[in-house]
Amino acid sequence: MSNTDKTHAQWSNRFAYILAATGAAVGLGNIWKFPYIMGENGGGAFVLVYLFCIAIVGIPVMIAEVYLGKTGRQSPMRALGQVAAKYAAAPAWKYAGGMGVLAGYLILSFYAVIAGWACAYVIETAQGQFINATPAEVKSSFDSLTSSAPKLIAWTSFMLLVTVAVVAKGLQKGLERCVRYMMPAMFLLLLIIAGYSASYGEFAQTLQFMFAPDFSKLTIDAVLEALGHSFFTLSLASGVMIMYGAYLPNNTSIVKTSMWIALADTMVALIAGIAIFPIVFANGLEPSAGPGLIFQTLPLAFGHMPAGQFIGSLFFIMLVFAAFTSAIALIESSVAWLVEKKGFSRITSAALSGFGLWLLSLLSVFSFTGASWAELHWFESSMNFFEIIDYLTAKIMLPLGGFFIALFVGWCVKKQDLAMELKLSSLMFLICSNLLKFISPLIILIVFLNLIGVLKF
Ligand code: PHE
Repeated sequence: MSNTDKTHAQWSNRFAYILAATGAAVGLGNIWKFPYIMGENGGGAFVLVYLFCIAIVGIPVMIAEVYLGKTGRQSPMRALGQVAAKYAAAPAWKYAGGMGVLAGYLILSFYAVIAGWACAYVIETAQGQFINATPAEVKSSFDSLTSSAPKLIAWTSFMLLVTVAVVAKGLQKGLERCVRYMMPAMFLLLLIIAGYSASYGEFAQTLQFMFAPDFSKLTIDAVLEALGHSFFTLSLASGVMIMYGAYLPNNTSIVKTSMWIALADTMVALIAGIAIFPIVFANGLEPSAGPGLIFQTLPLAFGHMPAGQFIGSLFFIMLVFAAFTSAIALIESSVAWLVEKKGFSRITSAALSGFGLWLLSLLSVFSFTGASWAELHWFESSMNFFEIIDYLTAKIMLPLGGFFIALFVGWCVKKQDLAMELKLSSLMFLICSNLLKFISPLIILIVFLNLIGVLKF
């Protein structure tokens, strides 16, 4: 064991890693975002493009990240620095790792706020607030939550406190123990809700909507959105997969586990669609309702369905679990970095990182409450801090990070070393390495340039 192996623990086995990494991948992205962007982009055809992006870009980049983590055995920036040194590549590659950690940190600063909404909804639904509620009442309870700074701060602090407490306990006693219970519970709840929804709601119409592609509805923006989302949903370029890869037991296959994680993440997103749309259609609601889909339309539907109070509460509990297993992943790289760099204990590191996040989360909190200082104006336009952080991470840092990671592993890592670790047949290796060298970076670049407006289709 090298020195660095000793700095950090490892997952106790391959299954623990798969659960933890699937927990990182499955989150608000799958249950909150995927259904509504699918709804906005016409359903079936969008789903096909999304699956294609996961396979062609998502899985190769995930393999590259886990490879870097497993080889470097440290937090992302240091892991990349070490791999770069090994192959005499430019030390600056390490900043691709550093940018990931920063992106993960920024994402968590607003992710914790939205996860806090889900916590609040567990209570509100369980208390029966939505029973027979009118659309105006449901909307006003959403507005009263998202415009109240004390409520948002309280729920965000709660989310962050629990996250810090779990991460402080360490890899096996904290993160691993938590995902061991939460992930199976999350899957089970999701299946119960999907079963309920399919039997009480419009199941046939949902299947038609999700799986019968109508390519006339597919716009170029939808294709770009599908690619961007495949990155976010797999937790790529945010330091997470590199960090979790650093804890991978030696004899675990990177390729097989990555496939499993991507498959599980995709299944959850699809089942979340099956859980949500039958209810949406049965109640004459709009599938393209946007970000409010699960916080505003679903409570309305639950309020009018048999056992809706109970099933609705289960739904939001599931959402909290899903978000929470992503939150611990998002904070982990910053904690590991503090342990390595400053030699602090995990408890101190988790507390420090959590406090920084709490401060940062206030920017998003006050963006939601509409505080004027949280709104920045320039030229004709204005954006609040939440929108800026969301834009900066999802549209700039994640794609750029993925781009550099694919190029780094594709071009700088010695082919034989990569082949030895990936253990693929020669044809599969050829495909994988060419995806990393050319195809993934090219696709990401096109999307990136399009998003920032340099290239317009
Ligand atoms: N993948 C998570 C989700 O789908 C979000 C996330 C992004 C988590 C990046 C970690 C890193 O909700």
